[in-house]
Amino acid sequence: MVNTSVELCGIRLDNPVIPASGTFGYGREFAELYDINCLGAFSIKGTTREPRFGNPGPRIAEAPGGLLNSVGLQNPGVDAVISRELPELARVYAKKVLANVCGFSVDEYVEVAARLDREDIVGWLELNVSCPNVHGGGMGFGTSCAGAAEVTREVKRAVKKPVIVKLTPNVTDIAAIARACEEAGADGLSLINTVLAMRIDPASRRPVLANVTGGLSGGAVFPIALRCVYQVYEAVSIPVIGMGGVRSARDVIELMLAGAAAVGVGAANLVNPYAARDIIAALPAEMQKYGIDNLEAVIGGAHNG
Ligand code: FUM
Repeated sequence: MVNTSVELCGIRLDNPVIPASGTFGYGREFAELYDINCLGAFSIKGTTREPRFGNPGPRIAEAPGGLLNSVGLQNPGVDAVISRELPELARVYAKKVLANVCGFSVDEYVEVAARLDREDIVGWLELNVSCPNVHGGGMGFGTSCAGAAEVTREVKRAVKKPVIVKLTPNVTDIAAIARACEEAGADGLSLINTVLAMRIDPASRRPVLANVTGGLSGGAVFPIALRCVYQVYEAVSIPVIGMGGVRSARDVIELMLAGAAAVGVGAANLVNPYAARDIIAALPAEMQKYGIDNLEAVIGGAHNG
């Protein structure tokens, strides 16, 4: 009998697998397919103050080993999330969620986070300072130490629950941004968001995505995620949720060896809606294969010796 449980900012999870924001809706859609209480937790769709329609199409493009999206933070807005999505979710899900908070100003991050902080089902606030698909917000805050730190500091003043800052890989030194967030009071970090990328249609000679660029996710980005988690683990002492191209139980173990305390599963959910459930089911056998009895004990193991 192996132990898959891990702790994330003071909350114990049955296992480290967390479907990533934007790939799991508000949970309901997947609850129609399987009992989502098998998850460690999951992160809801990025939520802004006002409803957003998102970017014009095309906003999805295929790529070798993954896909590009430029959804543009489509979401129903925080009022609808609180009055409709979270109560619906509570009917089928008894655990906690990460509330992914987006904004176009520091005030917006603070207001949305403060409102979601009051919801019972919210265990952690995940500050999304890393969306590459909007202008004047998202990644705009997460590509500088000062911007990421300011959002973190102001939100921390306004909330009680743990604040996890979601970082972009589209920077020269992700460890420096991670340190700035920790110094500003972050309780944890999640990384990586998608990698800025594009495709061009040779027939039309135009970019495939209406937004020109999008975020690459899927297996192709897994080694980038692993490198970022490894570097950030050495730079901070707060827990890290590792994500980016995770497709298997072996990937979960690799990311934990790099330093992840928990692991996000993103694009894999779009390819196979049962992906997170299947990875959780495969974890015990994969642990036994590598002589692991207690998963938590392997966190950061690749840094030893
Ligand atoms: O375009 C999007 O909605 C993506 C969000 C994100 O990558 O955080």
